Amino acid sequence: MKMNPWTLSVLLLLAGPLGADPDWHVEYPASFCVVEGSTATIPCSFTHPKVHEKTGAVVERVVWCPSHKYCDSSTPNVYDSSNLRADSRFQYLGDLVRNCTLKIIKTEKRDAGTYHFRFETNGGGYTGLRGVSVRVTDGEVVKVRSSVTDHVVKEGGQVTLTCTSNCSFHQLDVHWYRNGHALSETGPALHLSNLTNGDTGNYTCSLDSSGQKTSVPWSLVVVEDEGEPLCVH
Ligand SMILES: *[C@@H]1O[C@H](CO)[C@@H](O)[C@H](O)[C@H]1NC(C)=O
Ligand SMILES: *[C@@H]1O[C@H](CO)[C@@H](O)[C@H](O)[C@H]1NC(C)=O
Ligand SMILES: *[C@@H]1O[C@H](CO)[C@@H](O)[C@H](O)[C@H]1NC(C)=O
Ligand SMILES: *[C@@H]1O[C@H](CO)[C@@H](O)[C@H](O)[C@H]1NC(C)=O
Repeated sequence: MKMNPWTLSVLLLLAGPLGADPDWHVEYPASFCVVEGSTATIPCSFTHPKVHEKTGAVVERVVWCPSHKYCDSSTPNVYDSSNLRADSRFQYLGDLVRNCTLKIIKTEKRDAGTYHFRFETNGGGYTGLRGVSVRVTDGEVVKVRSSVTDHVVKEGGQVTLTCTSNCSFHQLDVHWYRNGHALSETGPALHLSNLTNGDTGNYTCSLDSSGQKTSVPWSLVVVEDEGEPLCVH
């Protein structure tokens, strides 16, 4: 692209005083906690200066490195867009534009570390120096919490069960079970409404489909509402 001086100064003006032009930047959480064995998604986004983009710069390579501040070409990485990796629990869900989301499948203890994201354009490169510190915790801390304190709920009522741990749940795959049988609902919260006796049982939640990181059971008993006789003679 050929630019005359006038075009260039307009671009610089737009970029400068208005402050609308994002700088070289990588945005990810400072720390991220994952329960061992679970699958988690680390949100990440990146920007490079629009002026730089307008001169035709495109992102050519993206890379995620564990425990290395600069994440340069000689650094071990868990994902590198310029290399095909056959066997990897690390999946890049992002793109080459602004999304650098990383998914870790079946997290292992050894995955703990500080991860850095780097992107390279044909006009430069940038590493998000702060990194995201990934902690891997034991699954023993998984618990079911309920919206009601009483385990006995009347028919027709409702209750919301939440799967929690001292490791906050960001975008985790959560599975629910009643008396050990998988329910179709997934996600951190299970909403049960219009309760019937069939909802009585022991509820557990699990952070992986193999059911290894499972909470202790939370028992729910649905009883007939005595105020309104259900039997008509
Ligand atoms: C980035 O990509 C992930 C996975 O496709 C998506 O869930 C997320 O919403 C995207 N983030 C942004 C900021 O677009
Ligand atoms: C979660 O709690 C357990 C014990 O209560 C503790 O050992 C562990 O370090 C905690 N994990 C995190 C990530 O806080
Ligand atoms: C609640 O369940 C009863 C019995 O299955 C059904 O007749 C009724 O339509 C349900 N009500 C709602 C609001 O879903
Ligand atoms: C739920 O768990 C309790 C205590 O472990 C047990 O006594 C009860 O039989 C269980 N209920 C079902 C439906 O499995």
